[in-house]
Amino acid sequence: MDTYLSGIQPSGLLHIGNYFGAIRQHIRLLEEQGEHFYFIADYHALTSSRDPQALREFVLETAVSYLALGLDPAKACLFRQSEVPEVTEIAWLLSTVTGMGLLERAHSFKDKVAKGVKPSVGLFTYPVLMAADILAYDSTVVPVGKDQVQHVEMAQDMAGYFNGAFGEVFVRPEMSMPAAEKMQKVPGLDGQKMSKSYGNTLWIFESGKKLKKVVNKIVTDSRAPEEPKNPSELFLFDLMALFVPQTEVDEWKAKVQVGGEGAPGYGTLKGVIRDAMEEYFAPARKRREELLNDRAEVDRILQAGAEKARARAATVRDRALLACGLR
Ligand code: ADP
Ligand code: TRP
Repeated sequence: MDTYLSGIQPSGLLHIGNYFGAIRQHIRLLEEQGEHFYFIADYHALTSSRDPQALREFVLETAVSYLALGLDPAKACLFRQSEVPEVTEIAWLLSTVTGMGLLERAHSFKDKVAKGVKPSVGLFTYPVLMAADILAYDSTVVPVGKDQVQHVEMAQDMAGYFNGAFGEVFVRPEMSMPAAEKMQKVPGLDGQKMSKSYGNTLWIFESGKKLKKVVNKIVTDSRAPEEPKNPSELFLFDLMALFVPQTEVDEWKAKVQVGGEGAPGYGTLKGVIRDAMEEYFAPARKRREELLNDRAEVDRILQAGAEKARARAATVRDRALLACGLR
């Protein structure tokens, strides 16, 4: 039986790229036999957050979003990373067997430095904490997007270094992502990859007038509706396909390709996306409101998750302390 684990940083409101690229797969994987751990990586978020109130809100928002979108707490253990202090202990143990060179090769670290971020020690050792997250629960499958695969491989390496020195302590996570669940890349409002850092996101729970306003920002061009266009050059259809059945998307594409009298303009197509998205997330939006009105229930779920996670992490930590001579 596999143990599934993944974490998500509470560094902003979740966007539809996060949903179709990660959250939906996490929720679908709950159908698989095995244990499931999903946590809010608040310790990791602190490598960039300097606003305590915003961080608290994003933690709550992330938990509520996962639950509203269908994460069943009876099937998965949902918790906050910082409520499992054993993870930081394991991170220390791993840091003592990990070479600086391994961390210096991390793409995500190098990218941030190249962008001018002045790195803290925490940002540098980020992959060690992430390895501890993974190894603390004897995880075997770690569903992450492409950008995190190198970090999972580093966790495999670190497990190997520790086990090589002290015997079989950590379970090597065998998979970053089951083949059937490969993450999909969602374009942002400007056609680049949707990402918080590009300011081109569409919040999952946006609705009504605000949704209309945001959807209208999808970048198009000034060609008239009558002018025939190559639909494969319009990323707007990739967004449409997230919410509208493929046959219907194909009909719209055909009309755009032919052009002429009666061909839809960009405004019409955006309207289709807006209405479909509004409907798609309507049940989750309702559930989110209910949860926000019942914080005690959310706290209870996170607390129960943390207790279960801590118990597991404590056994793994004890195993590690014993093996290396600290007990
Ligand atoms: P962001 O790029 O907005 O900062 P994160 O890096 O926090 O998003 O991503 C959280 C999860 O969502 C990751 O698993 C990532 O692979 C996934 N994800 C983010 N943006 C997209 C996207 N545009 N398409 C598909 N998946 C995405
Ligand atoms: N670094 C991951 C991200 O930014 C979040 C994360 C932290 C994580 N610890 C993890 C993901 C452990 C999977 C496993 O998306």
